[in-house]
Amino acid sequence: MANVLLDVKNLSVHYKILSGWVYAVDGVNFKLEKGHTMGLVGESGCGKTTTGYGITQLLASNAFIKEGSKVIFDGRDFVEMSTVPDKKLKGYRRIIEYHPEMRKYRWSRISMIFQGAMNAFNPVYKVGDQIIEAILTHEDITEEEARKRVEELYKLVGIPVDRIDNYPHEYSGGMKQRAMIAMALALKPDLIIADEPTTALDVVTQDRILGEMANLQKKEKVAMILITHDVSVVAEMADEIAVMYAGHLVETGTTRQVFKETAHPYMEALLSAFPNIKGEKKRLKAIPGSPPDLSNPPKGCRFAPRCPYAKDICLEEEPPVVEVAPGHFAKCHFAEELYGELGGERNE
Ligand SMILES: Nc1ncnc2c1ncn2[C@@H]1O[C@H](COP(=O)(O)OP(=O)(O)OP(=O)(O)O)[C@@H](O)[C@H]1O
Ligand SMILES: [Mg+2]
Repeated sequence: MANVLLDVKNLSVHYKILSGWVYAVDGVNFKLEKGHTMGLVGESGCGKTTTGYGITQLLASNAFIKEGSKVIFDGRDFVEMSTVPDKKLKGYRRIIEYHPEMRKYRWSRISMIFQGAMNAFNPVYKVGDQIIEAILTHEDITEEEARKRVEELYKLVGIPVDRIDNYPHEYSGGMKQRAMIAMALALKPDLIIADEPTTALDVVTQDRILGEMANLQKKEKVAMILITHDVSVVAEMADEIAVMYAGHLVETGTTRQVFKETAHPYMEALLSAFPNIKGEKKRLKAIPGSPPDLSNPPKGCRFAPRCPYAKDICLEEEPPVVEVAPGHFAKCHFAEELYGELGGERNE
């Protein structure tokens, strides 16, 4: 990878709760190149949002980052920048609430489209004013110039320009979503983290907005982490895919590799639980069982209790991350044996 923009190394984010810890993100590694899109997929509760927020360090107050985690963005480590060792919790770092340097990166270099972005705008201010405000906070331009930029952005995302002065409740859901995308692009960031950006919308609108997002992103050469539980969305949009299960990345690689040469049983299960992306009719198999409780994850492989290929070792030992092909990794004891055998797209 020549042009690495983001290098996440061994990222662990755990939540402190009354009865102990929730091991939401545990030892996550991936790299993202400039201008590339990475799809982060997995079932509900597997740690996708926590990973996204762990990058921008916008975590809940009970979140702690494990010592040894690194989030290197354009050469700077965000963990070092915005956390300090916690005095009481050994081995953990706590996020400094107000960190001017980190704030400079947010929105201007990395922007986020939050899960449930429908309600991200403040209801008492006009939508356009909120975007103008964000621009003015970060850039030394006049209000008029900022307004001009918002007008251009509205044209770009397909909202009539005269809607700039409306309040959030006057927007439809799709319009709010588009406005969020405009907001995310307003400061010409290098990276957008889009957390389920369109799940609340109907399929037609979702497809259109995602298509437009992909175009804008290509035009502006913005990298994106697209978080979704819907594998068919990432199949179309992502260059690389990271598959998350119970706080671990279980498979990473190019979209082609992960879809066509699936190496982890969980990805195989995810693929068979979703309608075929080519629209062919096929019986959908639900994945039996449910993801583990992350405050008490099973020892060994976290997917083993639901895995049709599991053997004794899987229940005992945490699997290593195996590189099954150049740039294609799977966290599985039997990755090498299963590689080429699992039913990805290829077998349909
Ligand atoms: N502030 C918190 N305190 C304690 N546990 C939390 C907190 N926030 C999230 N969790 C737990 O962390 C785990 C990962 O949650 P996260 O929101 O990252 O998952 P997700 O993959 O984004 O799920 P979804 O697809 O439903 O959005 C879950 O078990 C969740 O209940
Ligand atoms: Mg989420």
